[in-house]
Amino acid sequence: MTSSFVDSDSERAVASIFNSAVASAAIGAAWELGILDELRENRKADLPSFALQHDLDIRSAQGLVTALAVVGVVERDRDTVVPGRHFDEAYRTKSLFHWLSLGSGQLFSRMQYVLRNENRAGALDRRDSAAIAYACRDINTQYFDPAFWGAMDGLGYEFTSVVDLGCGSGERLMQILDRHPGVTGIGVDLAGPALEVAVAETKERNLSDRLTFVEGDAREITYRDEFADVDLLTCFMMGHDFWPRENCVATLRRLRESFPKVRRFLLGDATRILLGDPQTGGAVTEDDVPVFTLGFELGHAMMDVYLPTMDEWDGVFADGGWRCVNKHLIESLTLSVVFELEHA
Ligand SMILES: C[S@@+](CC[C@H](N)C(=O)[O-])C[C@H]1O[C@@H](n2cnc3c(N)ncnc32)[C@H](O)[C@@H]1O
Repeated sequence: MTSSFVDSDSERAVASIFNSAVASAAIGAAWELGILDELRENRKADLPSFALQHDLDIRSAQGLVTALAVVGVVERDRDTVVPGRHFDEAYRTKSLFHWLSLGSGQLFSRMQYVLRNENRAGALDRRDSAAIAYACRDINTQYFDPAFWGAMDGLGYEFTSVVDLGCGSGERLMQILDRHPGVTGIGVDLAGPALEVAVAETKERNLSDRLTFVEGDAREITYRDEFADVDLLTCFMMGHDFWPRENCVATLRRLRESFPKVRRFLLGDATRILLGDPQTGGAVTEDDVPVFTLGFELGHAMMDVYLPTMDEWDGVFADGGWRCVNKHLIESLTLSVVFELEHA
């Protein structure tokens, strides 16, 4: 085909797909390297000085900033970088890009391998758990925290001991303990690298005498003496790992038995609204997919993790021995929710 037959709209659109993929990694990296925060605080940055100060390779740093400029996140005037028209929204969603490109990069780069049935036996989750934990801290700040702290303020009792399932970096527990000086906490997580981050941070924040961590599978948890007085249970961005339904029912029942004194269980997660014709409130179609949804749902399909819809969550608690007493919707992060549960 000669160039005169090339559909210039498609040419531009496909170039934009390519550039967006590069920019997606650049947003996550620019956040971790501190460029986004520098721009947010000072509204401009001198790139050579920034690179020198942070010991960055200047040509790569220029490339990264160019990637951000191509998609309108920044603007450049020679060495001076300023926020572009999409800066504020990119700043708000930065952790979702980090989750996709840095935390889940190894998974997406192996898509053609992971899709073949012959390769699907064994561990499919090749993500960087420490990077995921890093991103999740900010996902909490940007999306879950208003609903979470609202639910905490409305507990209606003084709790003394809290367990966080799938605690990742442990940030949620540390924040709870900071606000409630007499309270002790236990974090449970499968991922050693995420727990290493959590333990180091706990020491740094002088919380080691009140906060401990257990490396283990929250789905297989059983009663131990340390759980006897636990009266608050939390679990954010991992509840989908309880599924499919019959497993979720079994896990919810096991949690009831393992934490006999729990008075409130705060369970927050994103739900499925796109893949597999979800037929649920809040479902979206291919021509109107919000940020995060596609990466979140495709990533979990590749890892063979079932993502429940909102309707499926609503319909599982009674069988699992819990009653939902309050529900907070978070529509800005695909369709997410914080359930407030009590023993039924
Ligand atoms: C997306 S991160 C969320 C981390 C944290 N809850 C937060 O809100 O920042 C999910 C965490 O759950 C952990 N996880 C996944 N499945 C788990 C399981 N079955 N038992 C314990 N932890 C699990 C992962 O290792 C990861 O640290």
